[in-house]
Amino acid sequence: MRVQLNESNKSMKTQKSKIQDQSKKIVESLPYKIKDIALAKLGRDKIDISEKEMPGLMELRKKYSRSKPLKGFRLTGSLHMTIETAILIETLKDLGADVRWASCNIFSTQDEAAAAIAKTKTPVFAWKGETLEEYWDCTLQALTFKNNLGPNLIVDDGGDATLLIHKGFELENYFNEHKKLPKITSNIEEEIVIEKLLRKVHKLNPNHWHNIVPEIIGVSEETTTGVARLQQMVEDATLLFPAFNVNDAATKSKFDNLYGCRESLADGIKRSTEIMLAGKTVVVCGYGDVGKGSAQSMKSYGCKVIVTEIDPICALQAAMEGFEVRRLEDVLKRGNIFVTTTGNKDIITLKHMKKMKDQAIVCNIGHFDNEIQVDALNKSDAKRDQIKPQLDRYTFKNGKQIFLLAEGRLVNLGCATGHASFVMSTSFSNQVLAQLFLAKNKPAPGIYDLPRKLDEEVARIHLKHLDADLTKLSKSQAEYIGVNVNGPYKKDEYRY
Ligand SMILES: NC(=O)c1ccc[n+]([C@@H]2O[C@H](COP(=O)([O-])OP(=O)(O)OC[C@H]3O[C@@H](n4cnc5c(N)ncnc54)[C@H](O)[C@@H]3O)[C@@H](O)[C@H]2O)c1
Repeated sequence: MRVQLNESNKSMKTQKSKIQDQSKKIVESLPYKIKDIALAKLGRDKIDISEKEMPGLMELRKKYSRSKPLKGFRLTGSLHMTIETAILIETLKDLGADVRWASCNIFSTQDEAAAAIAKTKTPVFAWKGETLEEYWDCTLQALTFKNNLGPNLIVDDGGDATLLIHKGFELENYFNEHKKLPKITSNIEEEIVIEKLLRKVHKLNPNHWHNIVPEIIGVSEETTTGVARLQQMVEDATLLFPAFNVNDAATKSKFDNLYGCRESLADGIKRSTEIMLAGKTVVVCGYGDVGKGSAQSMKSYGCKVIVTEIDPICALQAAMEGFEVRRLEDVLKRGNIFVTTTGNKDIITLKHMKKMKDQAIVCNIGHFDNEIQVDALNKSDAKRDQIKPQLDRYTFKNGKQIFLLAEGRLVNLGCATGHASFVMSTSFSNQVLAQLFLAKNKPAPGIYDLPRKLDEEVARIHLKHLDADLTKLSKSQAEYIGVNVNGPYKKDEYRY
């Protein structure tokens, strides 16, 4: 794939400047698009506070801000525009990158964080409560630098920036082969929005995505679902550029997905519904990293927790942790709160929701909203009342009511502010290391993992902040267990 691209790139590159001169602007020239720039002071105050809780990013700034290893690189981010992300953006800028940013979810932006970033003249396109059209326009804005240039580097969360590029590239290939554009056949609202946007771009410049792809060095992907999408592309031999799997660094998924959700799930549910959790029955669908954190969290509030799983290993873990393991169909009448954490689709169907007991709360903490059949619910005969943004009550024909949080999108970011800064420092340290790796090594397409030694380094920095004392391995002990005194201390296969 890489070879083919490089060969065709040569001819593309010679034509490129001509094509770009001729082309119309792919996006409107805007310095930023946010809710309210007047929120910048609040955002800056919160950034100042949170920086103290993000030692990993601060350490990386100290180490690299002089040498500026990202200087000269155009970098697009598509990741929840929160206070923590503002600190990531400022770290990437400190390391020299030319940054443009959009959120990766219509509800996850903290408007004060976006305002603080806009104030520093960094183009940011994000606000809480975007429509789907606005969301994808923002993603396109983040991907489009001056003169219609694309990014060299991408920070992605869930793979939407990567998807837009690949879909645009595919559409141009189709057009070049068939001399016409394909009909839009999808009946999924979001897919239709994407297809329409890509046709608009195609009209402005039928080579836009072929122009920008050769200059993309790579993407670093934040989350489980985004990595699954990338792995699918590798299997289908369609991945156009290298990707760095940030999610599977131990200091990401074993911390953010687990301990992050352990705190932010309850934060989302409580800010939204103000409900007492103690004594309630909570059904957690999925017992991976996010499910483990979610189940632990609910248990610690005094909830009775029931887990559903398809994987016998995870189901056994849940059972041995003391959780009841059941099928969703069998506990619909028992649950007060239902949480999906699977990264899979159609976990809670309309049929399920109709059978739940009165006043049940339904929410999702997985990356995409299709874990719950929200479309079907909206199209059903249930009456929808918005109690406040991101809290909807549905009344079924028989009078029974259920509540849906954040319209089925990630509840911790839609109804609260996502994970706390400290755990995002571990995640985002990995993001920065991934970007440095891509910029330095310019690897061939494929999916790359963080070397264990760097993973350990990220943990080491954060240990200091928690006043923890690490035991030093002696030389003879190191020899005895067959590792280096300075690490790595575990084999790559070790699962933590
Ligand atoms: N909201 C957040 O802050 C946040 C943070 C990290 C990850 N995520 C997202 O959360 C999701 C889960 O991430 P993870 O790292 O825990 O993934 P994971 O793969 O570790 O866990 C998912 C679990 O769901 C189970 N599962 C799949 N289909 C199921 C079904 N039909 N019924 C019951 N269980 C089923 C799988 O067997 C697996 O154990 C992903 O979409 C990820 O991107 C969200």
